[in-house]
Amino acid sequence: MKYNEQLAERIAEVAEVAGYLWQKGWAERNGGNISYNVTDVVDDAVRALTPLGESIALARPVENLRSHFFLVTGTNRRMRYVSSSPMDNMAIIRISDDGRSYAIVAEKYIHPTSELPSHLSIHDYLIGKGCNQKAVIHTHPTELVAMTHNEAFLGKDILSRLLWSMIPETRAFCPKGVGIVPYTLPGSIGLADATIVQLDEYDVVLWEKHGALGVGENVVEPFDMIDTLSKSAQIYMSGCAMGFQPAGMSDTQMQELKDAFNL
Ligand code: 13P
Ligand code: ZN
Repeated sequence: MKYNEQLAERIAEVAEVAGYLWQKGWAERNGGNISYNVTDVVDDAVRALTPLGESIALARPVENLRSHFFLVTGTNRRMRYVSSSPMDNMAIIRISDDGRSYAIVAEKYIHPTSELPSHLSIHDYLIGKGCNQKAVIHTHPTELVAMTHNEAFLGKDILSRLLWSMIPETRAFCPKGVGIVPYTLPGSIGLADATIVQLDEYDVVLWEKHGALGVGENVVEPFDMIDTLSKSAQIYMSGCAMGFQPAGMSDTQMQELKDAFNL
């Protein structure tokens, strides 16, 4: 199907980032998922599409997403193939006018990610808050996930401070740090709810022993944040592998950055 230029750009953006997730080694098998609110760029042709199959009830209504359209990666689909053949591995879904169900409208009948409850709850929450953040990414960055296996890192803002202190960029480009959600069943409403609480304070959330979730105005933005945090995790790990605990920037040095960049 031929999409208008703006929608085609969004599809290309998801494909681009899906490729990065695979190249980074963060997307084993079907690991990770992406959703993108495209309501502002769908045209009459997409709006007129007949749904493919029955509408599917949502576990919880999404009041702020009534009649919205989303690009969503399919469950069990590989990021490497989302990258090479995007519309064979993701769908456009339309939320019903009452916000209680959704239908797959294009291009093939590809069932959305099992993490749809989290993705839609987050979009619903972000719109309710008046944010312009349209994209949600979930991925499995190895070193960041490894860090969540250490109880000592899970206290509030401990990991944020440690990751900030590894390299100035992380302090500058992930100014809110990372929130942590204790281990919760993947795909559950409980995981969605716990993530939303953290998103009130942070743009990136780590799901203990599972992965990272980021939000942004486009798909590249959360990817860049997770990538920057991942760089810090790798620096920390490299120091440990060399037999020392990295010293990290001092509080004074981090405060200097905060002041210099108005963070
Ligand atoms: P999906 O294939 O359903 O998107 O699941 C991948 C995943 O990472 C679950 O957390
Ligand atoms: Zn996952």
